[in-house]
Amino acid sequence: MNVTVGGKSRHYRTVAFDAGSNEVLLIEQRLLPHEFKIVRTKTFKETAVAITDMIVRGAGAIGATAAYGLAQGAQAFRGSNVQKFSAHIDDVFNVLKAARPTAVDPVNAMLDVRRIMAAGESVVEQQSLAVAAAEEFANEDAKHCRELGEHGAKLIKNGMRILTHCNAGWLAFVDFGSATGPMYAAQEQGKKFHVFCDETRPRSQGATLTAWELAQQKIPHQIIADNAAGHLMQRGEIDMVIVGSDRTLGRTGEVANKIGTYTKAVLAVRHKIPFYVAIPLSTIDWNLKSGFDIPIEERHESEVLGAWGAVSGLKFKGQSSKLGERAYVRVANPTSGARNPGFDVTPAELITGIITPAGIFKPKDLWKNRAKLGFI
Ligand code: MRU
Repeated sequence: MNVTVGGKSRHYRTVAFDAGSNEVLLIEQRLLPHEFKIVRTKTFKETAVAITDMIVRGAGAIGATAAYGLAQGAQAFRGSNVQKFSAHIDDVFNVLKAARPTAVDPVNAMLDVRRIMAAGESVVEQQSLAVAAAEEFANEDAKHCRELGEHGAKLIKNGMRILTHCNAGWLAFVDFGSATGPMYAAQEQGKKFHVFCDETRPRSQGATLTAWELAQQKIPHQIIADNAAGHLMQRGEIDMVIVGSDRTLGRTGEVANKIGTYTKAVLAVRHKIPFYVAIPLSTIDWNLKSGFDIPIEERHESEVLGAWGAVSGLKFKGQSSKLGERAYVRVANPTSGARNPGFDVTPAELITGIITPAGIFKPKDLWKNRAKLGFI
């Protein structure tokens, strides 16, 4: 999407690859909305750390990053022994897969790259196929978001107030976004609507990333505290919910997404508000048979016990920090610990529809439509 920084506007992808220098280029998402910066990772191990540390985050974006990381690892191999190369690729795959466990997109992306690489006979051929396949995954991610956006935009009527959770915007993908895809498409069609962004504690991706994106695209929006959605629903101030997903089970229609999504789905059902999940095809897991089998990432307790932000420049007890400086503040009682599951699983019966590049489906109908949805 276009980003305006210092009065200049230009198009960026969240993730890109410089095949010449063998570096992955990433928007440093931990600094947003306070600073816009591109970082480069030089090795596949650095790329995996960038995923773990959430320089890049969001299902599609870490899928493309893992695909590029695999190509980066392939290109770094020296020698012509195909067996040794294959063992090296296994290692690269496993390091990138372990970087974050809940989203299935990195695994699906890397399996795609490996399948395409397998057509090459020599190491050199496989290396160049890996780069082309990673590029193809990234292009397809952007294309899928555009396509699902066109389907989802039909649900958005003038004057609607839409709730979204976390960031399933273009920053969570290569471009365009999943939950925001229908919003950007509806905006292009001239529709007027308002978005409520759940703040999304503990890392506040709604307050920081989604709000920044929507502000950049001039979509009217307000940030709400995570606990405010029920109140607004009860007062008739939310017409629809659209969220993303980190892993959607093709066999059951269950959806893993940022912690707090399940709570919003329960509330939406209670208030008869349609609850949609928007996904590209790489977010579908066709193997798992139960949402309880989805690995749920447990993150560090410091995320719950405090918060990162930019210093406001205000004085507190006579002390002041430099304006705009990024800082962590401890919020919680100093002697208490915390529990920090990153994701939850929403059952199929709470979901009105899954918005995909191939159309909108009832969650329980994904399996019977698997051929249309790219299951091979
Ligand atoms: O922990 P994150 O920020 O990587 O979490 C992923 C998400 O942003 C959300 O769960 C999102 O709704 C789905 S990713 C498109």
